[in-house]
Amino acid sequence: MIGRIRSQTVEVGRNVADWMENRTGIVTALEHFLYEPVPKRGAWLYTLGSATLFLITLQFLTGILLLFYYVPTTDHAWNSVYYIMNEAYFGKLIRGIHYWSANFLMAVIGMHMARTFFSGAYKAPREMNWIVGVILLLLVIGLAFTGYLLRWDQDGFWASVVGIKIGSYSPFLGPYITHFLLGGDVVGPATLSRFFAIHVWLLPAAIAPFIGIHLYLLRRHGEFGSEFEYSDRLSKLHERRRQEEYARHEEGGEERE
Ligand code: HEM
Repeated sequence: MIGRIRSQTVEVGRNVADWMENRTGIVTALEHFLYEPVPKRGAWLYTLGSATLFLITLQFLTGILLLFYYVPTTDHAWNSVYYIMNEAYFGKLIRGIHYWSANFLMAVIGMHMARTFFSGAYKAPREMNWIVGVILLLLVIGLAFTGYLLRWDQDGFWASVVGIKIGSYSPFLGPYITHFLLGGDVVGPATLSRFFAIHVWLLPAAIAPFIGIHLYLLRRHGEFGSEFEYSDRLSKLHERRRQEEYARHEEGGEERE
């Protein structure tokens, strides 16, 4: 019974996919977009970039939902977060996902960077993708830093004070960075407005095109190391198919005789 339901469901799924494919070509396009050969050895480590992409997408989606209730002013920010946590439908869940996915994102992006480093994927001709990766890392760190102040509690407030203070010691640019981030002399309403604008508009708008460039460059060069093993495996597969075909042909000939 269960087997029949399963095969019927598969059949329906296949028919829907065929229908869509005939009219839009979406299945071929998705296959083209999603399939990327990776080296056989350590193949799972090549999923870390996609995991980073998944987490950052989750951040964008949950962030948009949080904006329905969050108010970026010093007298309402903390209260609006309290409201999200205690009153809004699924508020706790959505804020929880935003918070934990931000934490995992930092860990996963670090692991992705370590994988590309240790597999030597930063070498020619992939240097540009490494550079774009570093830019993405800095932008993501910027997201984490600016997001912390938005809840406007003691933790976020003092962490931002310390962070801005560290930035103020940068050579030459220190005073400009401090002034740009603070919007005044101390952390206050102008700082919250600026961090909000940077967290919600500036950095996501900057990250999106860099992710596009990152994925374009990946497609252009392919995963580092995949070409050797794949061409090797493909030629073995073609050879086996050729022999099977030959054997079938021979059998057919014998039967006719
Ligand atoms: C928002 C952050 C990032 C996203 C969404 C992202 C996404 C991806 C994806 C999906 C891939 C292909 C799958 C894989 O190899 O895991 C990839 C490859 C790559 N990434 Fe990232 N990445 C990010 C950050 C970084 C960082 C911080 C670096 C290093 C500084 C980096 C360097 C690379 C390199 C060099 C490749 C090519 C790998 C190869 O050819 O084997 N990426 N990235």
